[in-house]
Order: sequence, then C-alpha cells, then structure tokens
Amino acid sequence: MNITLRQLKVFERVARRLSFTRAAEELFLTQPAVSMQIKQLEEAIGLPLFERLGKKIYLTRAGEELYLLGRTIAQQIDDAEQLIEELKGTETGRLNVSVANTIHYFAIRLLAEFCRRHPKVKVSFKVTNRKGLLQNLEDNEADLLLMGQPPDSQDLHAEAFLTNPLVIIAPASHPFAEKKDIALNSLANETFIMREMGSGTRNSVEKFLTERGFHLKVNMEMNTNGAIKQGVEEGLGLGIVSIHTLERELESKRLVILDVDSFPIIRQWFIVHRSGKRLSAVATEFAHFVKTEAPLFVRNDIIESALGFSLKEMPPRRD
Ligand code: PGA
Repeated sequence: MNITLRQLKVFERVARRLSFTRAAEELFLTQPAVSMQIKQLEEAIGLPLFERLGKKIYLTRAGEELYLLGRTIAQQIDDAEQLIEELKGTETGRLNVSVANTIHYFAIRLLAEFCRRHPKVKVSFKVTNRKGLLQNLEDNEADLLLMGQPPDSQDLHAEAFLTNPLVIIAPASHPFAEKKDIALNSLANETFIMREMGSGTRNSVEKFLTERGFHLKVNMEMNTNGAIKQGVEEGLGLGIVSIHTLERELESKRLVILDVDSFPIIRQWFIVHRSGKRLSAVATEFAHFVKTEAPLFVRNDIIESALGFSLKEMPPRRD
C-alpha cells in the first residue's frame, strides 16, 4: 500500500469538514486537486472512504478508521514539528498566535516589543473573534490564543493576565457625554451597534444585561471594533467595546465613555493553549512575556482619565 502524508493530510481535512469545497479552501488547493488526492488514496487502500447521500458526504467505515489513525499521525507530526521548534530555541523559532479582534490593537504592541527582543522569530498572527479563535486552536493553527474568558468545557489551559473593562461609547457631541451616574434605564431609547454572533464581547454584554433584565435596542451588527467605533463617531448609535480598543479615540477625544450605572463590565484577558500541547520554546517565551509584562504596555494614563477611576479599585469578575 502506497499512502503519502500529503494524501492523509488532505483526507483528514475533508473528513473533518465533510466537504471537499471547504477542505480545498482551507488547504489553498483547487477542488479537483483535493478530489484527485482522495481518489488516489482510495485506490491505494482499495476501499471507498466517503459515500455521497444527496448533497452531503459521509465517512464509510474504512473512512472512519483512517480518520482516527490520521488524527494520531497528524498529532505526532505536530509534536515532531514542535520538538524541532524547541531545539531551534527562542531566537529562530516560529510563533503561531491567534488573538481576539478586540485585543489585537494591544496585542500588536506586545508583539512589536517581543519581535524587537527576538528579531529572527517568524510570526503567524491571526485576528478573529472568539468562535474563530477556538476553531483555530482545535485545527492546530494556533499554539497560543489571547482572548476573553474561555469555555470551561474544553481541554484548555488558561491564565488571566489583564483586566478588560467593557464600556459604553458615544460621540463627543452626544447629550449624555458630560452626564454623571446615568441610569441604565435612561438608555432604553438609545440604539446600539452590536458585535456579531460568535464575539466574546457580545456574549458577555448579553449575559450582563440579561442578568439585569435590561433589553438593548440594537439597530445593527458589525463584525469589527474598528467599524463599531467609526459607526459611533458617525452617529449610527452607541457601542459597547473593550477599553483596550479605544486608546487613540480617547486620546484625540473623538469618542467618550458614558458614565452608566453598573458599567464598566469587568472582564479579564486570558492566554490560552491546549492542555496536552507541547509548546515550542518561542511560544513558552511569548506566554511568559505576556503574563509578566503585558500590564506595562497598557496606556493607563489615558484609560484611567477617561474612566475617572483607577482599575486597581475594581474587583475581578468572572464572566
Ligand atoms: P471578541 O473578543 O469580542 O473580539 O470575540 C473577545 C473574547 O474572546 O471574549
């Protein structure tokens, strides 16, 4: 039997997604190239690996067995790659990190300092929302994540490294801009721009407001913080975002934080990896850097003057 690693890699992706189209997209191949690899693999094995029912494909018994085996082989290849990265040390290895859309402004600042200290390290830096981050980790496309509270149920190792306040933002010209102690109910007639489904910010805001029996009037959804901030500036509605997305707008006074009762929502930022994952030397070094030095890179002067109080006074809260 003449099976190649490439065939197994393509098979593993088609089997995981149960779609030739998605596998082709994710592997940057054409669909005929994916079909050819699977056909050659089926010929080498002498058994079909997929069956088609209507528009869907399913794994045959042989496909299921090969999928389990393929995952073990993929894990072992990954371990071998990590071991090689480890041997390369912290100077020339590769860092694969995925970060929440919400923390990417701050994370790039951290990354810039890390790269100044380790100039030869190669970096893959992906920005996506909470749902995408967990998918990246599952697909082994990231060694480390920087994200909000991860789910309890997954096999994850997570450590909190920074307080993450979510605040309500408005244009500087908004009638509530100068008001103090605004009751949550006074926002009942305001419209809000909300993050998309799958965003950790959105999950947290919804949970927080449901606990208080408050319903937001949401008139539109946007899938980046940058778009929400611009939408708020243009008067499309109010927004709820992490304070770590706001340093530039607060400094230039283009946006203001409203002083609303029960706000800010206090969350934490976490650094996360898979529990069984053997981290490369570079990933271990980056994780250590984030956990020990991240707070030094926050512009606390801007944040605390916009909030009107010190974050040290806020108790940590689990969301
Ligand atoms: P997101 O990030 O809102 O950009 O998804 C934060 C999180 O992971 O909680």
